Amino acid sequence: MIMKFPENFFWGASTAAHQVEGANTFSDWWQWEQEAGLKDVSGEACRHYSLFNEDFDIARSLHHNAHRFSVEWSRIEPWEGQFSAAALAHYKNVISALRTRGIEPLVTLHHFTNPLWFASRGGWESKKSVDYFLRYVEKTVEALGQTVQYWITINEPLVYIHQSYILGLWPPQKKSLSVANTVKRNLLTAHVKAYRYIHDWYRERNLASPLVSIAKNMQAFEPCGSSFRNKTSTFLKDYFFNFHFIEQLLCRKSLDFIGVNYYTRGLVDVDSWDLKGLLLNVCTKGHSTLKKNFMGWDIYPAGLYALLMKLKKYKMPVYILENGICTADDNERWEYIRAHLEKIHAALGQGVDIRGYMYWSLMDNFEWDKGFAPRFGLVDVNYDTYERIVRKSALKFARVCQTGILE
Ligand code: FCB
Repeated sequence: MIMKFPENFFWGASTAAHQVEGANTFSDWWQWEQEAGLKDVSGEACRHYSLFNEDFDIARSLHHNAHRFSVEWSRIEPWEGQFSAAALAHYKNVISALRTRGIEPLVTLHHFTNPLWFASRGGWESKKSVDYFLRYVEKTVEALGQTVQYWITINEPLVYIHQSYILGLWPPQKKSLSVANTVKRNLLTAHVKAYRYIHDWYRERNLASPLVSIAKNMQAFEPCGSSFRNKTSTFLKDYFFNFHFIEQLLCRKSLDFIGVNYYTRGLVDVDSWDLKGLLLNVCTKGHSTLKKNFMGWDIYPAGLYALLMKLKKYKMPVYILENGICTADDNERWEYIRAHLEKIHAALGQGVDIRGYMYWSLMDNFEWDKGFAPRFGLVDVNYDTYERIVRKSALKFARVCQTGILE
């Protein structure tokens, strides 16, 4: 069967500054890595900060016409209120390197990392966090706005909160629902204010209207068995994790599209009616029989289809901003991409307005607390030599990018 995707569909891949650039020394993550005793620290990462031209040559050769990346707040504002002209000039060069290759930049303003100074003033718990973020957004939009149309303010706000303020796995390693709630409120307000600022800035300059959103991680929740409690928990998780934040932003008229990051399924098995458990616990009994990625996440393309169908009611354009697999077997990567593209095509056929697909990630990179072992890249990175080797899956995906056809 031949599956044709729409004209002008965005085809490409995503990265995030801290995971690829290297030497992100002014960030809270860098500091935390030095103290946390992880197996790997980010160090030079992929040296993308200096090798971006070479990396974008590869993206071009793979027929990508869009690329999502993040600018790093801690480089742009390494000390409170002091903005680095050099860092802003660097990102200007990054954007023009993409544009000269015919690749549309999609720019993320916050992808998990914070400047150290911001973290030491209380990070996202602090009342002042919104103003701090806004000041950074203003400077960044001022410097880059003329050449950017797509902005993603915040990457996966709920994943960030979950990892950093509920599970306590990522900096600042808190475990408090009430703090998590404060952070959520601040992230939401930060987005809404940034959204309005960006729109005003473009309007005042008579520039084409920007398209601003967040990257929302979505998971396909499914109950273990059919108990009423598991079904209830599944319903609550699906609503509160996948849709509530989006609805809050839609109510505030602050989304121009819905950005979706989709990887996996969450199997739901709870053993009490405790509300916290109903909202947060997942199956820990190994009930899933699905194939898994290198980090143990279920591979479940059908879940993407179901979520896209649920997004249809918002009547918004949807961009897949992340979707990918870490695996040592590159055949599995192509199978993963193909299976998810099939589901995207099916959702398009049902009238979901999907505009693009960004694979995570262009290249292997630093997978946060899991270090360098998980290999998500279309491109293999040799961490001794920083050599890049294009994988076969990348070439197969490139054919789809080039033709808009999945065979
Ligand atoms: C997402 C993150 C991204 C990457 C992938 C595997 O949750 O946004 O930075 O780590 O997972």
